[in-house]
Amino acid sequence: MNQWLDERLHISRLNDKFLRKAFPVHHSFFLGEITLFSLIVLILTGVFLALSYEPSTRMVANPTDASQMVPAAYASIIRINWMPFGDMLRRIHHWSANIMVGAAILHMMRIYFTGAFKKPRELNWWIGMLLLVFTIITAVTGYSLPYDNFAKTTLGVVVGIVASIPWIGDWVAQAAFGGKFALDNMAMIPRVYGYHIMLLPAILLGLTAAHMLIMIKQKHTQPQYAKRIAYKKIVGVPLMTQQTPIMIMLALLMTGLIILFAAFIPVHPVEVFGPASNQPVANIKPDWYLLWIFGVLEMIPANAKFTILGGTIGPEFIGGIVIATLVLVLMLAVPIFDKSRENMYYAENPTDFPKRLAAGVAFFTLLIVWSFAGYKNDFQWPVAPFWILTFVGPLVAYFATLGIVRGIKAFRAADERDQAQHAAAADD
Ligand code: HEM
Repeated sequence: MNQWLDERLHISRLNDKFLRKAFPVHHSFFLGEITLFSLIVLILTGVFLALSYEPSTRMVANPTDASQMVPAAYASIIRINWMPFGDMLRRIHHWSANIMVGAAILHMMRIYFTGAFKKPRELNWWIGMLLLVFTIITAVTGYSLPYDNFAKTTLGVVVGIVASIPWIGDWVAQAAFGGKFALDNMAMIPRVYGYHIMLLPAILLGLTAAHMLIMIKQKHTQPQYAKRIAYKKIVGVPLMTQQTPIMIMLALLMTGLIILFAAFIPVHPVEVFGPASNQPVANIKPDWYLLWIFGVLEMIPANAKFTILGGTIGPEFIGGIVIATLVLVLMLAVPIFDKSRENMYYAENPTDFPKRLAAGVAFFTLLIVWSFAGYKNDFQWPVAPFWILTFVGPLVAYFATLGIVRGIKAFRAADERDQAQHAAAADD
């Protein structure tokens, strides 16, 4: 059979090229794989959800109360909840999305703190960043689909941010969401559905394929132990057959964990929010990975507005577009700050690059401060401390990290001196 296929498809060449690829044995390399497996679970569960979901805002009888008319999209979600395993399917889809975003962020942190973004892997850093951004956009479009009042309010915030772009915002928002944002806009949900199930998954799959092919071509960075075993040689286990069972075990473990989450932790209860209405839900918050943008929007005063050449620059544009874009540009620029001329082989110890480590800690401190600002109204916190922390927090985090690294290094040096003295004493 193998020979028959090989004579026609030359699969042995494929075997040499891809299936013999060596994978480093180190747990930190699992993060990219977990992200990939979550994407697969999302696509599989998404296909089944799409079979029963109705992307329409036409009014139909509410399945729970026939005297009330509700959007068909909302009614179809209630019917999915009633189907055998329907609610479970929604929950698995929801938790996989959270795990995908979380794993992608941790994966990105691993790449950053070990220097794996350096030459020649800059391209994969940029593709990875696009993957992260499109993953988050896909999640946001997913939230809109049940067309309950939460979805309608969220969609309103998103449309508001897009429409806040001076001069062209209104036009862009209407082109993207099929007309003006309104309860009776019949094109809005079908359009968001098209993005969520076709355009965005196609982009994610295309980018993932490019990400994987580049990674296979350039090979993984090698863990430090590989340097001691065989300098500048690839050390690891081949994809076929050693790495494959490890990956299958990891995928099963992860899926099991998601199913466990799904079994015990319910997700977005559409009935509690009710069908989309003209009365927005008060005090609504996005998911944890977008809380920082929400926090920034809360911190900027509502009257921070000015007009240039007929275009209005307002808080939504400053927070939702300008600051979010600056954060993104900063992350995209990471490989540009690095001036290495040699290709990098080995994952670096973060403490050997204290400034890079400190800059990363400062960056995440800033995002955490902004995320807390998202809870400002819930706890009646004043806004001033958040503005102070926006500038002071990252500085303190930066210098504290440098201090801690200096301490670790001094401790290590003392330890090495101790060991050398003991060895010398033993020789005597
Ligand atoms: C969101 C979807 C993503 C998926 C499915 C994904 C998947 C993967 C996988 C499976 C690997 C190989 C295993 C590993 O090194 O962990 C990998 C490597 C890599 N990824 Fe990602 N990734 C994603 C996002 C990102 C992000 C956000 C970044 C950074 C901005 C990134 C940058 C890289 C780089 C530079 C490598 C090569 C690492 C090395 O050689 O050590 N990826 N990715």
